[in-house]
Amino acid sequence: MTNSRGGATAPRVSRMAAFLETPDLLEDATSVLRSHAERLGETFYYFFGGVKKVLITTDPAVLHRVLKENYENYPKSDIQVRGMGEFLGDGLLTSHGEPWIRKRRHMQKAFSPRQLEAMAGDMAASLEAAWPAFEAAAAKGPVEVGQQMTRAAFPMVMQTLFSGAMGEDEMRQISDGISTIQAFMVRRIVQPFLQPWFLLNGALERHQAIRRAGDAILLRHVRARRDAPRTPPDLLQILLDEDLSPDGGRLTDEEVLAEGMQVLVAGHETSSTALTWTLYLLCQHPTVMAAVREELETVVGDGFVTPSHLSRLRQTTHVIDEALRLYPPFWMIDREAETDDEAGGVRIPRGTTVVAFVHGSHHDRAHWSDPESFCPARFSRQDGGGAESTRYLPFGAGPRRCIGANFAMLQMVMILNAVVRRYDFTLAREPAVRPHPRIIQGARDGVWMTFEPLTPGNGKGQGA
Ligand code: HEM
Repeated sequence: MTNSRGGATAPRVSRMAAFLETPDLLEDATSVLRSHAERLGETFYYFFGGVKKVLITTDPAVLHRVLKENYENYPKSDIQVRGMGEFLGDGLLTSHGEPWIRKRRHMQKAFSPRQLEAMAGDMAASLEAAWPAFEAAAAKGPVEVGQQMTRAAFPMVMQTLFSGAMGEDEMRQISDGISTIQAFMVRRIVQPFLQPWFLLNGALERHQAIRRAGDAILLRHVRARRDAPRTPPDLLQILLDEDLSPDGGRLTDEEVLAEGMQVLVAGHETSSTALTWTLYLLCQHPTVMAAVREELETVVGDGFVTPSHLSRLRQTTHVIDEALRLYPPFWMIDREAETDDEAGGVRIPRGTTVVAFVHGSHHDRAHWSDPESFCPARFSRQDGGGAESTRYLPFGAGPRRCIGANFAMLQMVMILNAVVRRYDFTLAREPAVRPHPRIIQGARDGVWMTFEPLTPGNGKGQGA
């Protein structure tokens, strides 16, 4: 069916069929949506939980239009703005238009290449401080890799973007709180019909209390910084000093808290999930693992990884690129059309929630050669159109592309350097690894691995 704008109405999965498969969707959303894409094509309508109508797409033309060319017409959808805003207040992640442009311009400075170069030493120090806990856990037997990687990665974000004296327990409380709230937010998105029940059974209030406890810790940190400014400024100092409020003035402490928390949420469990999948893939591909270890030894030597090393760590970064392709932490990105539009021959009426199905794009046989196989070298030969194409979206695309992408890459290579140069690791046999896409795509019961320290005889390494 075509309309006056020339676009066709996309095919759909019926509301009832979608409702009936809600348990499958909760269990493994990416497989459910991929099976529909195989039947219906690159763009189709779906109903999350039989209730929330969305337009799912992997069509590069639609993605280009929505995320880049006409991005101003596509603010974040109410899934993010209302669902997350309710827990996280107003901030960069959930804002749009002029307020977003102003915040993004200022906050970008905290992630600039020069700033990243300056932060690398602190990131390495933070990693070293977290390492004894990893060593102790690994010495006892198999560890859940995702949890260990979060314990290494999250303090790096906290201590370099919000530098200050926050205790380990406080950081862990914020980190655990974010994980719990994210899991709850997924249930509210996928089972919107349960909202009244969440209110009645106290789940909503319980999760709000967890949020308030995390907020209180960060707010104390914000207030302490007001009395002791930091030069050169880190992200927290930029939030305090720059004119970021909608009326052009400074932010209040509470507004700084909301902005800061949104960055922490965005940077939480993303790098650590990507690293978990990277280690999972590496331990199944010993030749690639050996090549990565050798490259890190040659390029990084005994010091710590800096941004200037990255362009010389091609195999290592391509392994991470490939892990991000096979298991993108954000397996979908959502937007909402403000006015009627048309893209890739498909009609997009005003109010449509468009879901960029990132996982589907990354596994599309039409665009990637042998998409299910682990092949880091594909990134040297521009398979799938290369890292800049809208077929490869681990960090999103367009003006709202991840602000922390370069930070994340540096952080992941740093942690990988520490693990790969110090340990041999193998997958524990139980439980079997099964992807489990929530807001972030982790593994159903985690990824369990055994880590054996490398000795001079079996391939000694150091590396921070
Ligand atoms: C492997 C790690 C990471 C991945 C895969 C990732 C992925 C993404 C994606 C897909 C988006 C765009 C979402 C959208 O368009 O709706 C995004 C946005 C964002 N990310 Fe990341 N991210 C990672 C690490 C980080 C880190 C470490 C930080 C902060 C320290 C961070 C902070 C942000 C922020 C603040 C935004 C919102 C930007 C805006 O709306 O202007 N991310 N990220």
